[in-house]
Amino acid sequence: MPVSVRKYDLVVLGATGYTGKLTAEHINEFLPDLVEKLKKLSPKRLPPSIEICVPMAENLNSLARKTRVIITLLGPYAKFGTPVMEACVKNGTHYLDTTGEIYWVGQMVRRFHEDAKAAGVILLSQIGAESGPYDLITFSAVSKLRTEASLKTKELIVSINESKLALSGGTLASFFNMYESIDQKTMTASLQPWALSPISGRKAPNAANTFGLRRDKTLGLLSASSPTERQDRALVHRSWALLDAGNLYGKNFFYNEYQKAGGVVGGVVAKIGTKLVGASLSSAILRNLIGKFSPAPGEGLDPKEEKNFNIEIFAVAVADEVGPSETRALSKLRYAGGTYHITAALLAQGAATILYESGLVERVGGGLLTPAVIGQPYIERLRGVGLSIDTVLL
Ligand SMILES: NC(=O)c1ccc[n+]([C@@H]2O[C@H](COP(=O)([O-])OP(=O)(O)OC[C@H]3O[C@@H](n4cnc5c(N)ncnc54)[C@H](OP(=O)(O)O)[C@@H]3O)[C@@H](O)[C@H]2O)c1
Repeated sequence: MPVSVRKYDLVVLGATGYTGKLTAEHINEFLPDLVEKLKKLSPKRLPPSIEICVPMAENLNSLARKTRVIITLLGPYAKFGTPVMEACVKNGTHYLDTTGEIYWVGQMVRRFHEDAKAAGVILLSQIGAESGPYDLITFSAVSKLRTEASLKTKELIVSINESKLALSGGTLASFFNMYESIDQKTMTASLQPWALSPISGRKAPNAANTFGLRRDKTLGLLSASSPTERQDRALVHRSWALLDAGNLYGKNFFYNEYQKAGGVVGGVVAKIGTKLVGASLSSAILRNLIGKFSPAPGEGLDPKEEKNFNIEIFAVAVADEVGPSETRALSKLRYAGGTYHITAALLAQGAATILYESGLVERVGGGLLTPAVIGQPYIERLRGVGLSIDTVLL
C-alpha cells in the first residue's frame, strides 16, 4: 500500500512499558494534530486505537504494511528489535528505536542500511537520552562554526552539567542481556570511535590526564566519567560520516564527552565510580544482586518525580584552524524533565518530523540514519516541546 494512504500514521510498539507510556502521553499532549488535523482533513479517518501484536515476523509485516512510522520500545533490542526493523525495511515503513545496545546497532547497520537506502526508508536508532541529545548538540555547534565563521570543527567537547538518571527495569534488563549475550571482545570492538561509521576519521589522543580530568577554557573542569561517552561518540561519528563523508563537520573532527566536575576530588571520584559500575555489571554475581534491589521490567521511578529532574548539556565546537587563534561555538541544551521524558520527546518528535516535514524523506534518502542527518527541522520541533539548543559563536 502506498505510504500516503496507510491506515496508521504512527504506531508505538511496547506502549505498555515505562518509556512506551511516556511516549504515548507525549504524543497525546503535544501532537494533537495527529488526531485533530487528520479528523478535519479526513473525517472518516480512524481515531487512535490499540492493536495487540505478538512480535513475530508475520504479525510485524502485517502491522508495518498499514503504518507510515513505527516507534518500537520492545527491549532488549538485541532480543526483539531485529524482526521489527526487518519488517519496516521490507514494507516501506519508517522506524525509530531508543536502544543503547550499540553492538546490536552495528549489526543492524551492516544488515539493513543499504536495503533501507534503496527503499527510501528512514531507520533511526539510539533515539534516547543516551545518544540523541549529544548528536543534535554536536550538529548545532558544528553548524554555527560552519555557517557563521566558514570554519570546520577539529574537536567537539561535551560537558554534561546535569542529567540525573533513575534507571527503569527495562533499561536494566537490556544492560543485563547485553553483558550476558556478548563477550568482552565484541563489546570493546562495538565501542570503538568509528565502529558505526562507514569511513574512519583521525585517531585522537586521550585529552584527559591520568586522573581522568581536563580543564577547558570555556567549559571549566571536566571529568572523563560519562558512562555513555563511547556509545555517543560512535553515533556522532556516524553522523560525521553520513554528512558528506566527513566534509561537513571537517576531516579532522573528533568527539569527546565529559561530566562537569565540581572540583578535583569530585571529578576523580566520579571517574572511579563509573569504572566500578562498569565492573559490577560485568560480574554475573553482582548483576544478580543489583537485579534484586532494582525495578523489574515495566517499572521505574514515579513519572511525576522524573519530570522534576533537569537536563543541561553544554558543548563547544573548536575550529580546525592553523595558527594561534581558536574560534569556538558554544551550544547549550536544556530540558525540564528526566532522561525518560526526554527520550519520549525525542522519539515522538522524531516521528512527527518524518511524518510532517515536507520533502524530508526525499532530502535525506533512506538508510540507518542519525538525528543529525534529520537536522534542523528536528531541532525546531523539539524546541516547540521545551527541549532548547541555543548556540553562539565565541
Ligand atoms: N538509550 C536510552 O536513552 C533509553 C531510554 C529509555 C529506554 N531505553 C530502552 O528502551 C527499552 C524499553 O525500556 P522500558 O523501560 O520502557 O522497558 P519496559 O518498561 O520493560 O517495557 C518494555 C515493553 O516491551 C514489551 N515487551 C517485552 N517483551 C515482549 C515480548 N516478548 N512480546 C511483546 N512485547 C514485549 C513490554 O510489553 P508488556 O508490558 O506486555 O510486558 C513493554 O511494553 C529498553 O531496551 C531500554 O533500555 C533506552
